[in-house]
Amino acid sequence: MINKAFTNKKVFIKTFGCQMNVRDSEVICGLLKKAGYQICDSDKEADVVIFNTCSVRQHAEDRVWSLIGSYKGSKIIGLVGCMAQNHKQQAFCRDPSISFVVGPQDIDKIPHILLRLSRNKGQPLKSGDSPLFQSKIWETDGQVRPEEIYHTGFLQDKEHAYVVISEGCSNFCSYCVVPYVRGPLRHRKLKDILREVQDALAGGVTKVTLLGQNVNAYCDDGVNFAKLLEKVNGLAGLQSFDFFTSHPKDTSLELFKAIGGLDKLTKTLHLPVQSGSDRILKLMNRGYSVKDYLVLIDSYRKIVKGGILTSDIIVGFPTETDEEFEQSCGLLKKAGFNAAYIFKYSPRPNTQAAGLSDSLTMEEKEGRHKKILDLQRGISNKLKG
Ligand code: 5AD
Ligand code: SF4
Repeated sequence: MINKAFTNKKVFIKTFGCQMNVRDSEVICGLLKKAGYQICDSDKEADVVIFNTCSVRQHAEDRVWSLIGSYKGSKIIGLVGCMAQNHKQQAFCRDPSISFVVGPQDIDKIPHILLRLSRNKGQPLKSGDSPLFQSKIWETDGQVRPEEIYHTGFLQDKEHAYVVISEGCSNFCSYCVVPYVRGPLRHRKLKDILREVQDALAGGVTKVTLLGQNVNAYCDDGVNFAKLLEKVNGLAGLQSFDFFTSHPKDTSLELFKAIGGLDKLTKTLHLPVQSGSDRILKLMNRGYSVKDYLVLIDSYRKIVKGGILTSDIIVGFPTETDEEFEQSCGLLKKAGFNAAYIFKYSPRPNTQAAGLSDSLTMEEKEGRHKKILDLQRGISNKLKG
């Protein structure tokens, strides 16, 4: 319902990180529009600036802190998403210009938070805290998102829709902050996913991307990920669709057959391997060996003729030796990825790996990063022909 008091307020959302955050920002826009706010394209004209953030690597966080620091003055600043969950109320100490902090499981509360902020300017909003926390609001205790937030009908792109099929992750890879900031894996109901896709198709969308931290673990009432793909493939009006991201330990021949066989499904698979060393994979808690991975991608290539394969690699994980780094290079050569995203290990708070000494210097990590990037560039270019 449109609230007349808000129709003049303008909100700008700046999004960092993965496609999940892109979709979350759309959800927030949809909720705010419903509450009567205007969404604008630039921070200059905005009354409220929301940073929807990523905590996967320290570098992503540093960019946001420095950007927030550049806002002096009259705007209401909100820190939302993974960084909000990672820092909670401490974010107000780090930058007192922040007015509200909202974790990924609490985004449905943002319209009400803005209403409270506009009503209570200068008043204590939570009692019993130091003066710094007066006029501040934080919501970081949410567990489950209300289903209806996915059905506001707001999409950035008229032809393409991101559709979340599962939230959170329970894998606890030892380097990764996601299970801590996005909570355990929860699957959306099949009927709700199909309703969302059908509504998008009715609105003119023709392409869909199914999203989750670990989509191929999907399960609802006996429907697994391959079956979900079949059902989406059958929807009238859909021209093509794809999905992100898969975990090797949950990848099956049934899934490869679905990718190979479903006519609307793009013949691509993003299958992060992370390292070419069995010792490091074990320390990362990935649940597969290099050999398991190579067998898997061999099956993928046999079943999905001409299929695209991409991956993620982390270099400089704690205690990674030169030989183990070379094993990652060797794996890239064997695997022949069409593209690979290469990351320098970044210690994250709370994670298991944060307890290991970050043994490599930044120079060593940068050296390995550059070497493996060059290698992958050569492989990608060769495959492009
Ligand atoms: N340091 C570096 N890279 C990381 N990733 C996740 N956590 C970290 C970290 N702490 C990478 C992984 C993952 C991708 C999304 O980000 O490769 O697949
Ligand atoms: Fe992080 Fe591992 Fe979950 Fe991916 S599967 S989000 S890397 S914990």
